[in-house]
Amino acid sequence: MCGIVGYVGRREAAALVLEALKRLEYRGYDSAGLAVNSGGRLLVEKTAGKISALETRLDGRLPKGHVALAHTRWATHGVPNEINAHPHTDCGGTIAVVHNGIIENWAPLRAALVKRGHKFRSETDTEVLAHLIEEAYGPAVPLETAVAWALKRVEGTYGISVLSTREPEKIVAARHGSPLLVGLGDGEYFIASDASAVLQHTRSVVYLDDDEIAVLSPDGYRVTDLETGRIEKPVSRVDWDLSSVEKGGFRHFMLKEIMEQPESIRNALRGRLLEDEGNAKLGGLNLTDEELLSFNRVVLTACGTSWHSALIGEYMLEELARIPTEVEYASEFRYRNPIVDEHTLVIGISQSGETADTLSALREAKRRGARTIGIVNVVGSTIAREVDGGIYIHAGPEIGVASTKAFSCQVVALGLLTLHLGRLRSLSVLQGREVVRALNRLPEQALDVLARASEVEKLVSVFEGTSNALYLGRGYNFPVALEGALKLKEISYIHAEGYPAAEMKHGPIALIDDSMPVVFIAPRDAVYQKIVSNIQEVKARRGRVIAVVTEGDDQIAGLADHLITIPETIDPFTPVLSVIPLQLLAYYIAVHRGKNVDQPRNLAKSVTVE
Ligand code: M6R
Repeated sequence: MCGIVGYVGRREAAALVLEALKRLEYRGYDSAGLAVNSGGRLLVEKTAGKISALETRLDGRLPKGHVALAHTRWATHGVPNEINAHPHTDCGGTIAVVHNGIIENWAPLRAALVKRGHKFRSETDTEVLAHLIEEAYGPAVPLETAVAWALKRVEGTYGISVLSTREPEKIVAARHGSPLLVGLGDGEYFIASDASAVLQHTRSVVYLDDDEIAVLSPDGYRVTDLETGRIEKPVSRVDWDLSSVEKGGFRHFMLKEIMEQPESIRNALRGRLLEDEGNAKLGGLNLTDEELLSFNRVVLTACGTSWHSALIGEYMLEELARIPTEVEYASEFRYRNPIVDEHTLVIGISQSGETADTLSALREAKRRGARTIGIVNVVGSTIAREVDGGIYIHAGPEIGVASTKAFSCQVVALGLLTLHLGRLRSLSVLQGREVVRALNRLPEQALDVLARASEVEKLVSVFEGTSNALYLGRGYNFPVALEGALKLKEISYIHAEGYPAAEMKHGPIALIDDSMPVVFIAPRDAVYQKIVSNIQEVKARRGRVIAVVTEGDDQIAGLADHLITIPETIDPFTPVLSVIPLQLLAYYIAVHRGKNVDQPRNLAKSVTVE
């Protein structure tokens, strides 16, 4: 989604913000722009397309100046062209605004501003902000006061940064629903929508909360509320390595992140397993055992890939912890009239910790008295800060738009939570130890699966010329079928459906012929014999079967056209291993088709608008 970077200091700002903006390319965008406060003038350059197109246009002639803003736009209001790209300026071209989010009441605001004589150039919702600020920015009014005045008139979500020629050493930034942080340097300050943009320059950051304004100048920064009352904010340290946001010799971030899974799973487990007690230690939950026992229901809420891991969590929590669990799309949950109360534990799962729908679902649950916890990757993200407690999955930065290592680590985190709740409720110490042993083996087993990557790559030929594929699984591997299909469609643009294997008979079976690849996820688990029958049904209709099976499986070997094997583990953790070949398969197919694997069309890494 959109990205913001700003700089005030003593260095040449344009080159710096453009480099920093490249760190946000992974979020997905369709146009880019830059504004530099240069010798009393505001120089603005924008273009449709990538940052490289903006650089080509500038042709090495970067505007000089020590204060700049840069932005990548993911179109919401108005097509992705040069005019609609940010920054947007006021009538006089002396105020520049970049904005992430959506101004919902832009239409009446724009109509009123036009009536008062303002001239609009773009079709965007953002431009109203530039004109509103212009209205309030009288001779004796500082920029931050004008910004606050404007923000009190808008509805919707925003992370904004503003420059003005009248106060050329200043950036004013504000947030409501779209993440922003201030990076603290020595005599220089940064504003960014994502820590990876400033990592190269500083690891000390201040996360803005909703309805806060930051004022940055080379002499310092301050954070205030919309009434300009000062707020003391804690300084956080970003622990990520710079190398973790670089490709490190891999052709794509997605491949790097798939390959990192043994290490990321190890990190998700580190220090959390109590082998003798057959239990998990989860310090961040902020819930006592008594409180955990007081819940009579769990609701898991998430979007996309995180929703798939939530489905696996539902199966685990019901089977091993014997607690009634439901999974809700966050976008549905927030607008229903959900039944949650103080006896409901609502768990939001999110890699980014910024997904607008998941955040709003958690806020709604909180409002209704539920306790909320987050299973989140990005430390310091909004969800992580707003929930009552949580589990960081420690997958490390995930840059590829297609989520991979976050999924496996989410399942591991759900496994840890299930183990802990299970030991409080129904699991014996011996059963708990079995779960601990299985979790401990996962990093090595994931490495084993990855060692077979070249076998998966050979399967690309099965998908040559195909425009449809079916993914089928049962039990814990039904959500893996959904995830495998999502991976394929989002990066290769092949239409793929994930289905519970038996449900296939109720419709999708009509699609099967000898040109249809059907991927079965069929490890030897409680529903193994059932899925063998489903494979037979597909073979009877001459479908081309690719099966992910447990090592040593002779039965499916005799049925499937192609086999990928994974090591044996207990049923709840089979998804951690079975998903890996499906991630690789989608990756190799997309590369073979020449697609932009890390930044697929139309997609954004974190969806911060609803
Ligand atoms: O950051 P989140 O986990 O909240 O993101 C949720 C989805 O937007 C995300 O999983 C999306 O579906 C990915 N592109 C899947 O690969």
